Amino acid sequence: MRKRHLILCMVIAVLMIMPAAVFAGGRAERPAANELEIFSWWTAGGEAEGLQALIDIYNERYPEVNVINATVAGGAGAQAKAVLASRMQGGNPPDSFQVHAGQGIIATWVVEDFMEPVTFILEDNGWMDDYPADVIDIISYQGEIYSIPVNIHRSNVMWYNRSLFADNGLEPPASMAEFFQVAEQLRARGITPLAVGGTDGWEQTHLLESVLLAELGAEAYRGLWTGATAWNGTRAKAALESFLRVMEYTNPDRAALTNIDAAQYVAEGRAAMTVMGDWVHGYYLSIGHTPNEEYGWVPFPGTAGNFLMLSDTFGLPKDVPNPQNVERWLTLIASREGQDAFNPIKGSIPARTDADRSLYDAYLLSAMDDFGRDTIVPSVAHGAAASESWVTRINDVVNILVNNRNVDQAANEFQSLAQQYAR
Ligand code: GAL
Repeated sequence: MRKRHLILCMVIAVLMIMPAAVFAGGRAERPAANELEIFSWWTAGGEAEGLQALIDIYNERYPEVNVINATVAGGAGAQAKAVLASRMQGGNPPDSFQVHAGQGIIATWVVEDFMEPVTFILEDNGWMDDYPADVIDIISYQGEIYSIPVNIHRSNVMWYNRSLFADNGLEPPASMAEFFQVAEQLRARGITPLAVGGTDGWEQTHLLESVLLAELGAEAYRGLWTGATAWNGTRAKAALESFLRVMEYTNPDRAALTNIDAAQYVAEGRAAMTVMGDWVHGYYLSIGHTPNEEYGWVPFPGTAGNFLMLSDTFGLPKDVPNPQNVERWLTLIASREGQDAFNPIKGSIPARTDADRSLYDAYLLSAMDDFGRDTIVPSVAHGAAASESWVTRINDVVNILVNNRNVDQAANEFQSLAQQYAR
């Protein structure tokens, strides 16, 4: 009787545990499945197709592997990062996941010991020299590489509607002073000068980083993330004032728009300009637009010669069930073939320096040339300059600043965050 009771208890226990395990990862019930789960936030036009191009090559090469394209929508990983964090903390990492080069991977996952080194992917294939040393540097920690960059994106790009500019006899602004003049003229004609999103909480930070770069220059901008530039000093405060002035020329419905919606406003002529990373180029291509026809681009006014960069990378979390499948994925995205399949669709340039230029359009060729000769500075909104926790706190301060317009308060809060996080 006691034995039967024991067995019953065990059955009940298994039944209670099983649904939780199945829910947690979908893996518990099929531990040996030959799968590769790729986790990202690439759901928008351009990026979804770029990712699919990579998965198609993987499927062709390794038809026996079931690739799971796991996406959580939301620009800049606004929702994906939280889902990822809970899976990582819960011991259920995706096999490989999109993560920003720089502090996004290093401070967030590597220092905390969640990742395996992947230096061997580049070394074994003889690809070390095919990547710029600066890029290798920001994905490395204590002599090892921890993620493989599939691209380079530029953040400080101002996209504009060419016919709106031409019809109003305007030239795209090259300096902050010109921006305010052009914006004034557009507004006087009833046109929203600058479209900005706000749904995901980071879009205004994206704009702010370009304004900070324009007003402070590359060196002082970098100092904001190392502690060398005071956020509450005169120059940084003047830059925050300038940011608020730029915000005066934006659409009032920001909170209802994603970054892609804002780009769409420009495509439809509902606004003249938007400042966003060059995934917007991928989006415009996906809706059938052509660079230099419907839309043009310039570096954010006052930032020509500087390239605010970010990079999407993938790594190998510790304890995944099929590390070989991940190594093959990383090898594919590290290869010239992989990068040349992905980037012309995604709207980014390859992280490798040996791309086949004939595959890239006028915008991407200009970005490649700029990346080769400009001063490279790290984007904060997209994880290159600061850890995820720091960026989250910055986004909060920016959103409050836009609402209460209290520069002193924001400058002091930014400064105390820098004291806490800068390295
Ligand atoms: C960035 C990411 C890009 C793009 C963008 C919009 O953070 O690096 O690849 O996805 O967000 O979601």
